[in-house]
Amino acid sequence: MADRPVPLRRYLVANAVALAPSYVALATLYWTGALAGRPALIAAAGIAVVTALLVQRYLGSLAQFARFVGNLSDEREPVMPRLSFAPATEELATAAATLSAGWRRQRASIDNLAASAQAIVDGLPDPLIAVDRQRRIVRTNLAAAALLGPVGAERDLSTVLRHPQLLAAVDSLLETGADGNFTGVDQSAVEFALAGPPERDVIAQLRRLSRAAADGSLALIVLHDTTAQRRAERMRADFVANASHELKTPIAGLAGFIETLRGPARDDAGARERFLGIMAEQADRMRRLVDDLLMLSRIEQHEHARPDREIDLDRVLRGVLDLLQLKASSRSVRIELAVAAGLPRAIGDHDELTIVFQNLIDNAIKYARPSTVVRVAAGPDGQGSVFVAVSDEGDGIPAAHLPRLTERFYRVDTARSRQLGGTGLGLAIVKHVVNRHRGRLDIRSTPGKGSTFTVTLSAAD
Ligand SMILES: Nc1ncnc2c1ncn2[C@@H]1O[C@H](COP(=O)(O)OP(=O)(O)OP(=O)(O)O)[C@@H](O)[C@H]1O
Ligand SMILES: [Mg+2]
Repeated sequence: MADRPVPLRRYLVANAVALAPSYVALATLYWTGALAGRPALIAAAGIAVVTALLVQRYLGSLAQFARFVGNLSDEREPVMPRLSFAPATEELATAAATLSAGWRRQRASIDNLAASAQAIVDGLPDPLIAVDRQRRIVRTNLAAAALLGPVGAERDLSTVLRHPQLLAAVDSLLETGADGNFTGVDQSAVEFALAGPPERDVIAQLRRLSRAAADGSLALIVLHDTTAQRRAERMRADFVANASHELKTPIAGLAGFIETLRGPARDDAGARERFLGIMAEQADRMRRLVDDLLMLSRIEQHEHARPDREIDLDRVLRGVLDLLQLKASSRSVRIELAVAAGLPRAIGDHDELTIVFQNLIDNAIKYARPSTVVRVAAGPDGQGSVFVAVSDEGDGIPAAHLPRLTERFYRVDTARSRQLGGTGLGLAIVKHVVNRHRGRLDIRSTPGKGSTFTVTLSAAD
């Protein structure tokens, strides 16, 4: 940067101050007669020229020094000037540069600390929002931005979370009395639903800090997504309700028949025979339901442990077909089995996979139109796995039902399933077994045409 000229006034004043002692000495010499007028004038002129030069250089150095100190607060450290005409100023400049380097180091470490604090906050899996005394957002983490979208700082909390209960809880946390002390509790929790899609259940944990942080943060709001937990709770409650409901019907039937057999039908041998047949059916239904429930719970218990045996799927499928042949014949359904030559062995549990294919082929027979073909095909899928596909020519399943088909007790047509002796747990068991095998279950269905259920399992190398 070019040096700016020293202001004239300062230059004149500095010259006057520097010249004053010499001129007083010259004047004294002249008045006492020790110096003649002409030499005195020549000396005065000489001194004035030299002083003017020195003062100009000195003031120039001072200006450079001032500029250097001024520039120390810049991002980059300025170059230290050569101040040969003002050695003391040069020392001052060195001291100022050392001081400024210390500040820079401290600032860098403070910046580092702030960055680490933000990194930690950003690393939290749950959304976090910090608000100041006026309920304005001061800081958020990445999870909060992902949940709420970009959250502008300095905006009131209500601009991103409008839930009245949450805002009231934050307000009560920040409320102060006439003496400036907080009047409310220093932590609380609020549950609410975040509008979707998809709608989410959230619990907000609120904490007031013991004193405001440097950035003004005074209250922290941490949101915890409880949707999955809530869904699991609902599913558990639904499951118990469904299981009880499924058992209630045959129990009520049995109780009714016992009542009838004890009363009006006591001496009616024909009715007794008929009722006992129905009662046996109901008891069988309950037994199947309890068996299925127990199996489901057993599979769930060890779902985390993946089976590691090598099994022959061809043998599993033939075993299942032997079991179901009679049922198929009774509905005039023909089963075709097509196993690819050289089918690799699969990794799995023989008994559990027997149950899987028994359920799928049983469904295919049950829901197929009479006198149609159920096709069971098995082969390598070309990606290190083996597949088994069970296709029927039944009424198919409307697409809206497909996502929920593997839920416990979920049926497309409850009355029909019950009438066919189904518990509605078959596909839930299939899904859990397939999950335990880390396999895949794909369901394709065309209403009016039929359905294909495909299970993919890892092949043994
Ligand atoms: N191949 C299929 N074709 C048409 N609908 C099917 C087929 N397989 C399953 N479904 C539908 O899915 C529902 C759930 O099947 P799932 O096997 O879980 O129960 P279920 O067969 O009724 O009873 P369970 O298998 O416990 O005896 C059935 O009730 C039926 O509505
Ligand atoms: Mg079934």
